Amino acid sequence: MTDYLQTTRTAYDTVAADYAELLRDHLAGSTWDRAMLGTYAELVQAAGGGRVAEIGCGPGRITEHLHNLGLDIHGVDLSPGMVAVARKWYPHLDFQIGEMPGLSFEDDALAGVVAWYSIIHTPRERLPEIFADFNRILAPGGHLLVAFQVGDEVRHIEHAYGHDISCDAYRLSPEKITTQLGETGFSVISTLVREPSEEFEKTPQAYLIARKQ
Ligand SMILES: C[S@@+](CC[C@H](N)C(=O)[O-])C[C@H]1O[C@@H](n2cnc3c(N)ncnc32)[C@H](O)[C@@H]1O
Repeated sequence: MTDYLQTTRTAYDTVAADYAELLRDHLAGSTWDRAMLGTYAELVQAAGGGRVAEIGCGPGRITEHLHNLGLDIHGVDLSPGMVAVARKWYPHLDFQIGEMPGLSFEDDALAGVVAWYSIIHTPRERLPEIFADFNRILAPGGHLLVAFQVGDEVRHIEHAYGHDISCDAYRLSPEKITTQLGETGFSVISTLVREPSEEFEKTPQAYLIARKQ
């Protein structure tokens, strides 16, 4: 496992329980998040439905929300600590340990892939590898939803959710991500960039929906 994956996994194992507790009811107060997740669920269903995976699912709150909207979804995460929390909180759903890139799905297996604030710890030059992997596992016409913080800074995080940790977080450019998705076989069909609206958001937030060409 490469260094950045190891440090990211260790960091999320450390914060898993407190991260999960803090964000457990967050979606209820986040209109934009629910709007984009709802739109995404409708698009997947309108295209005929099928299996969906949330990659980097953390404690499973987004997986659970999309399940409640009718998607056949399960979660995958790098952090065993996060997967343990997700399995405990949502025992009716399936969560597996896994990492991107190198996802263990067969080609064309899925109708949807969700990466909700989970590409943010990957060095930018490695993102095309991840998008190519998403493209490989999606069926033609399948939908990808990506959410991330907008910017060009790399932040080294040493303290989060009440714990000392060490990992990097990358803010990203919606335009560059759109270009990279285009180069890896996707068409971006929707982009929402909104202003930071909550106390702990410091930058605009981006949500992209793309379709496998
Ligand atoms: C900010 S959290 C978001 C979790 C969840 N999507 C949510 O919104 O609550 C980022 C998650 O992505 C996972 N992650 C980061 N890089 C990953 C990778 N390369 N492969 C799989 N999971 C990854 C982390 O372990 C962490 O649980």
